[in-house]
Amino acid sequence: MSEHLETNRAWWNEKVSLHAESGFYDVKGFKAGKLTLMDLEREELGDVAGKSLLHLQCHFGLDTLSWARLGAQVTGVDFSPEAIALACSLREEVGVEANFVCSDIHELPGLLSGRFDIVFTSYGVLCWLSDLARWAEVIAHYLEPHGTFYIAEIHPFASVFYDRCDAEKLEVHYPYFHDTEPMRFENQGSYASGGAAGTRHVTYEWAHSLGDVVNALISAGLQIEFLHEFPYACYRMFPFLEPDGGGWWRLNAKHGCIPMTFSLKAYSGGA
Ligand SMILES: C[S@@+](CC[C@H](N)C(=O)[O-])C[C@H]1O[C@@H](n2cnc3c(N)ncnc32)[C@H](O)[C@@H]1O
Repeated sequence: MSEHLETNRAWWNEKVSLHAESGFYDVKGFKAGKLTLMDLEREELGDVAGKSLLHLQCHFGLDTLSWARLGAQVTGVDFSPEAIALACSLREEVGVEANFVCSDIHELPGLLSGRFDIVFTSYGVLCWLSDLARWAEVIAHYLEPHGTFYIAEIHPFASVFYDRCDAEKLEVHYPYFHDTEPMRFENQGSYASGGAAGTRHVTYEWAHSLGDVVNALISAGLQIEFLHEFPYACYRMFPFLEPDGGGWWRLNAKHGCIPMTFSLKAYSGGA
């Protein structure tokens, strides 16, 4: 694992316990039976009952276990041992069947065999990946013939704007286009940890344009069914966003209207 991935992995390991205690993740509500998935992916992916589903970058498994509650046979993958340990313990506690694998997704084919009806990934995943061509190959590798890939993700256009707690308006600050050299961030806390910052602050992240995402999947042999863009975010991405009551965060008219989320569905070709 490269030094950048190792630094990110240490950061994610530390965030697991902070996130598990956060209102954002609401583990208590999940244990009481709540599903953590957004309506967006539930409606766009459709009925998963009886289908095998591979969840890439599953964090500590709440969405993975939610798909299992909806009847899917799930496997969740994350490179953080702390995340996978908590996912396994939640699985035992709520009594749902699920398989969890600790792996860097670039390396997954060396560790996990089999194919899946659905490969799923969501919200805050692509910026941690250095190589989208490899990511798309891994997705294609795991899909059954005519299997479905679905992603709901932060829109890369929204990621160009300054997003720290003193941001007052949309100001271009970060690159839109990919560079092999990652951006280095010094973070105080995370999207979910509130005031709790932890001790690990440095992360390395990569920009990927929307075109990079689509073309990586096409080059890996997938056929795109749709690409949708939405003017709302899944977390308070900028301090001036306002909650809409449905779990999303929106800009008011004063700040304009930009895409902050996209979703994409694709199919693998025949056998
Ligand atoms: C923002 S979280 C995903 C959030 C998920 N949608 C949720 O709300 O729980 C990103 C996840 O990607 C994982 N991750 C980052 N880089 C990875 C890699 N190279 N391989 C596997 N997992 C990775 C992190 O450990 C983290 O759990």
